[in-house]
Amino acid sequence: MIAIGVLGAGTMGSGIAQVAAQAGHIVYLVDVNESAIEKAKANLESILSRLVEKNKLSSEEYLQITNRIKYSSDILSFQTCGLVIEAIIEKIDVKHKVFEQLEGIVSKDCMLASNTSSLSIASIGSVLEKSDRIIGIHFFNPAPLMPLVEIIPAVQTSNETLETAKKLITSWKKTACICKDTPGFIVNRVARPFYGEALRIYEEGIADFATIDWAMTKIGGFRMGPFTLMDYIGNDVNYAVTESVFAAFYYDPRFKPSFTQKRHAEAGFLGRKSGRGYYNYTDGVEFPKAIENFELGQQIFDRIIVMLINEAYDALFLNVASKEDIDLAMTNGVNYPKGLLNWADELGLEWVLSKLENLFNEYGEDRYRPNPLLKRKVKEMKLA
Ligand SMILES: NC(=O)c1ccc[n+]([C@@H]2O[C@H](COP(=O)([O-])OP(=O)(O)OC[C@H]3O[C@@H](n4cnc5c(N)ncnc54)[C@H](O)[C@@H]3O)[C@@H](O)[C@H]2O)c1
Repeated sequence: MIAIGVLGAGTMGSGIAQVAAQAGHIVYLVDVNESAIEKAKANLESILSRLVEKNKLSSEEYLQITNRIKYSSDILSFQTCGLVIEAIIEKIDVKHKVFEQLEGIVSKDCMLASNTSSLSIASIGSVLEKSDRIIGIHFFNPAPLMPLVEIIPAVQTSNETLETAKKLITSWKKTACICKDTPGFIVNRVARPFYGEALRIYEEGIADFATIDWAMTKIGGFRMGPFTLMDYIGNDVNYAVTESVFAAFYYDPRFKPSFTQKRHAEAGFLGRKSGRGYYNYTDGVEFPKAIENFELGQQIFDRIIVMLINEAYDALFLNVASKEDIDLAMTNGVNYPKGLLNWADELGLEWVLSKLENLFNEYGEDRYRPNPLLKRKVKEMKLA
């Protein structure tokens, strides 16, 4: 079994280290910051002891797993690794420097992966001499609990690197979805309208936060409504992802960020972590009540779901991933109740298209343009 290197012992790095160690690998967890290493060690030990308390791990397994994780502040520890996964700060110049350094340390067969959410894998790999070993391995937070891992081959990546990475991640009992090296990969691209369209509906004064959340949970069956979810993710983080996807798509209006979210982030209304976001989480403050009007709720749900489906169709149309992987990614990465492409079939493609055409005609905005593949499918169905 190969040894795994994880660079960056923050939220993601420590979670990835736990997954790899639980799968039986020796893991070298490295961070430049000594206090980050100590924090990761304490966190991991407490998470694993809770698993023992819940009888999900035996005391013997606890010892084996904790013994497999080697903490260090020196990247020379990666010398014997077969794969190094980088999970450091999301800055391309820092990643470039680190990958250049890594290549000087690891063996020539060692695969080099990045857990980046928004940067191009091709760019990260561009600093490598043996660039066919670069790959994106994108875990979701919290890594030990979320089943999805997006695997992103760059234009430089060899088939062997891709196949080995896929096999490895599957052996860690994760759902591996292969996707193209395009902004937001699958989940962070396809999910944008869940937030963006909800914000737009609010900005138009159609409904308040609580009512939109109620519509999406009670009528749509989503586990969390968009505003509750944005408050959970953090408005600063969610806004930054939207802005980076928007810029990366050359400012396609489909991904336009919202002033409402920007203002909330600017005001420090970041969500749960700051005690206030779209909702006030202070003890004793009552949550606003939704207007439980089913006709309005249905309108809200219809508008958001057709926008999500349009985005899923766009990912399929541009071969970002297979139909199966696009649906798996949304159910396994962000807990959607159904895969969007299957959901579209259930709702009827003609109905989805007509809703989008209505929005497009009403607003005249490019944001609502129906995807060509969706249009083609409806046309074919009508001819058949
Ligand atoms: N947090 C998420 O929900 C999430 C989800 C998926 C992917 N990601 C991606 O994972 C990566 C890490 O995110 P995070 O949330 O774990 O960040 P984090 O801030 O929690 O942790 C980053 C760690 O990297 C360390 N670090 C910074 N520069 C370093 C260097 N040069 N060498 C070694 N260590 C260094 C820091 O000390 C810190 O401990 C980013 O690329 C991010 O986009 C984050």
